[in-house]
Amino acid sequence: MKKIGVLSGGGDSPAINAAIRAVVRKSLALGYEVWGIKDGWRGLLEGNLEKLTLDSVSGIIFQGGTILGTSRTNPFKREDGPQKIEENVKRFQLDAIIAMGGDDTLGVAHKLNKMGIPAVGVPQTIDNDLCGTDYAIGFDSALSIVTDAIDKLHTTACSHHRVMVVEIMGRDAGWLALLSGLAGGADVILIPEVKFNYDDICRRIEERRQRGKQFSIIAVAEGAAPEEISTQVTQKATVDAFGHVRLGGISSVIAEEIEKRTGYETRATILGHLQRGGTPTAYDRIMATRLGVKAVELVHNGQFDMMACVKGNQIDSVPLEEAVAKVKPVDMELFETAKLFY
Ligand code: F6P
Repeated sequence: MKKIGVLSGGGDSPAINAAIRAVVRKSLALGYEVWGIKDGWRGLLEGNLEKLTLDSVSGIIFQGGTILGTSRTNPFKREDGPQKIEENVKRFQLDAIIAMGGDDTLGVAHKLNKMGIPAVGVPQTIDNDLCGTDYAIGFDSALSIVTDAIDKLHTTACSHHRVMVVEIMGRDAGWLALLSGLAGGADVILIPEVKFNYDDICRRIEERRQRGKQFSIIAVAEGAAPEEISTQVTQKATVDAFGHVRLGGISSVIAEEIEKRTGYETRATILGHLQRGGTPTAYDRIMATRLGVKAVELVHNGQFDMMACVKGNQIDSVPLEEAVAKVKPVDMELFETAKLFY
């Protein structure tokens, strides 16, 4: 019997479990055995795998997180990493691997294909920044969480006549900040793709005051930066196994500057990992299910080094190489639409 290994890597997000469930159900229906690889690529390095059955994925469609665990392990940064992966693929007799994650996790999958290990990808990141797909699992759930947070900040901002700066994840892409800012009616939206200007932000706050609006909400992506500074605000100077710094803190910098310039009481809120937690939305569960099924079909048809993807309303596939080539920047037309409201 042919065997498929499945893993989730990188930052988790709601609805990975829905995708794992779909992979297991579709694979079993086609007569494959499925093995869950624990904690991302680390599980394959260490030979930490378990057989998945119908029971393993029963009752998980609504659960956030990932039953397989995850990690930011880069096998290509470990001594003998690629060899260990090769050995464990042979030892567990895996015919293919389905990897769920963002550009880091899927970048490894692409490299494994080049080494002769068949792998396909499923787009999964709240950043929604993978190329070649209109959608990545987790984005809609995170969007709902952030929009809800902005709604809640509105009421307290209004009571206290304050400026609230809310910091939103997304690393180098502004998708989550832009769309949650749009949905939550933020008064200013700052994204990494467009450098911001303090004069513009303060002018906007003043205009609102003149219209009788004594509070303002600023939605800022964690990777956004002002015109005069070329670097992003980071929590730590060190980088992870994929070379990423840990972003965080821009909201406090902006809040301080706004208070200094306008004299208005200003507060910063960093939403942090709340954005990746909890129950997936119905939309995410459905997309995760469709993408998981597609990934198994790719394996079944021998279409390796590909990623299941979303194009419009359709599920399709795209070469992994294309998906991980660069960060997908926000659609500037959407940014212009959002700007109409502030
Ligand atoms: O890539 C997903 C993401 O949530 C980013 O938006 C964020 O910058 C990063 O992960 C945080 O990583 P960690 O969970 O390792 O702190």
